[in-house]
Amino acid sequence: MKVILYMAISINGMIAKSNDDTSWITTKEWNSYSSAVRKAGSLIVGRRTYNILTKQPEFSEFKDVTLVVVSKERNLELVSQKHSIADSPKEALKLLKDFEEVVVAGGGILNNAFLAENLIDEIYLDIEPIIISEGIPLFRGKEFKKNLRFLGQKKISDNEIQLHYQIIK
Ligand SMILES: NC(=O)c1ccc[n+]([C@@H]2O[C@H](COP(=O)([O-])OP(=O)(O)OC[C@H]3O[C@@H](n4cnc5c(N)ncnc54)[C@H](OP(=O)(O)O)[C@@H]3O)[C@@H](O)[C@H]2O)c1
Repeated sequence: MKVILYMAISINGMIAKSNDDTSWITTKEWNSYSSAVRKAGSLIVGRRTYNILTKQPEFSEFKDVTLVVVSKERNLELVSQKHSIADSPKEALKLLKDFEEVVVAGGGILNNAFLAENLIDEIYLDIEPIIISEGIPLFRGKEFKKNLRFLGQKKISDNEIQLHYQIIK
């Protein structure tokens, strides 16, 4: 199984403004992210991201995606029968063990837990041309350090670039 972290970030590494605003992320970026998730057929998100993402109209594109939300809250309300809850990153991967590819997509707390536990193989970062001085960072939580290998880059639009890395384990 290949575990891919896929995120849109500001040039200074923020994934949302402090008030959770992500309206600066473009439709072209969403389409790129959406096709990666649909290609994998599986998605893992943290509880805060789940509550925000499932309220967005575009979320209907993921109706066939098997989603696991990571949370210690066992009574979380799930919006689809294709969704389930795991109480740790490892348990989330166990629930998706039959998938060749799994996309992990935020937020900052969940990303940090996956990286700190060495569970990510590759990272895709879609860089939006914006600086957000105060916000939610790509990784937040326990300290860790990883070295990466650059695998490639792609233009998403005239204004946006995608970077692709492998985690050196
Ligand atoms: N730019 C992008 O591409 C992008 C993508 C996704 C999200 N976002 C943004 O990111 C923000 C949310 O990020 P966030 O860092 O605040 O929250 P988050 O990572 O989405 O969710 C945090 C919650 O997930 C659960 N969780 C995370 N790690 C866990 C672990 N190791 N074990 C058990 N539970 C764990 C916990 O839920 P419980 O408290 O229920 O236990 C924790 O409180 C939102 O603004 C969202 O819009 C941006």
